[in-house]
Amino acid sequence: MMQMRGRVRAAVLALAICTTAGAASANDLASPESFAKITDEAARSAAMFSELGRVLTSPRCVNCHPAGDRPHQGDMGRLHQPPVERGGDGKGTPTMRCSTCHQAANFDPGRVPGHPEWHLAPIEMAWQGKTIAEICQQIKDPARNGGRAVDALIDHIGKDTLVGWAWAPGFGRSPAPGTQEQAGALVKAWAESGAACPAK
Ligand code: HEC
Ligand code: HEC
Repeated sequence: MMQMRGRVRAAVLALAICTTAGAASANDLASPESFAKITDEAARSAAMFSELGRVLTSPRCVNCHPAGDRPHQGDMGRLHQPPVERGGDGKGTPTMRCSTCHQAANFDPGRVPGHPEWHLAPIEMAWQGKTIAEICQQIKDPARNGGRAVDALIDHIGKDTLVGWAWAPGFGRSPAPGTQEQAGALVKAWAESGAACPAK
């Protein structure tokens, strides 16, 4: 019994340490409410997008939204090894399908990330090498965002499970900043305040 209590106390202590560290960490995302002091609506909207931009430009998203035909890997965004290409459907060439290696879930012993729908974002959705302002214009453009209205981005970023992988990327990779829910809240507040884009 004493031992049990000790363990519970240790767990509570560990949790407290984690929570404190989390709150102070640069990996957090600012909440929409924290932008309330910016009274100009367009400026507030653009500032919220810039915050969201920390997620969009994280290696977890950019590695799958590359400018070329090959995915990138790791926190440094190096070219995918072994060499693989997007193919016609983003799921690889006929002889080298993504699903050969990428299973339905992360396989940590081999460091291989996974998801049932694992594939590369189409080339018109490439974010690699772009500024947050350029990504903002692109993400609002139905010709380059898969025909989505701005409102559809709220659930896509806030709830889609392939996007969600970026916050649980498995062994050896840093997760995207904040949580998927927080990112979704920022997209919603950005959309509701007129979806303005930052100047740069
Ligand atoms: C021959 C096996 C193999 C094939 C086929 C393959 N991958 Fe990978 N992929 C890997 C391995 C292994 C890793 C993990 C490497 C590491 O991080 O050390 C990886 C990592 C990645 C990452 C990096 C995730 C991150 O943020 O670090 C992306 C993105 C990726 N693969 C996309 C794809 C796509 C898209 C396809 C199909 C076009 C594909 N892969 C096909 C083996 C493969
Ligand atoms: C495993 C690869 C993969 C990862 C990782 C990934 N995406 Fe994507 N993304 C895709 C694919 C494939 C599409 C196209 C699917 C579609 O249009 O339905 C896409 C489309 C999108 C779109 C809609 C089109 C656009 O560009 O406006 C958004 C928004 C998006 N992704 C956000 C993200 C964010 C945010 C992250 C990181 C938190 C992320 N994605 C990580 C593969 C990925």
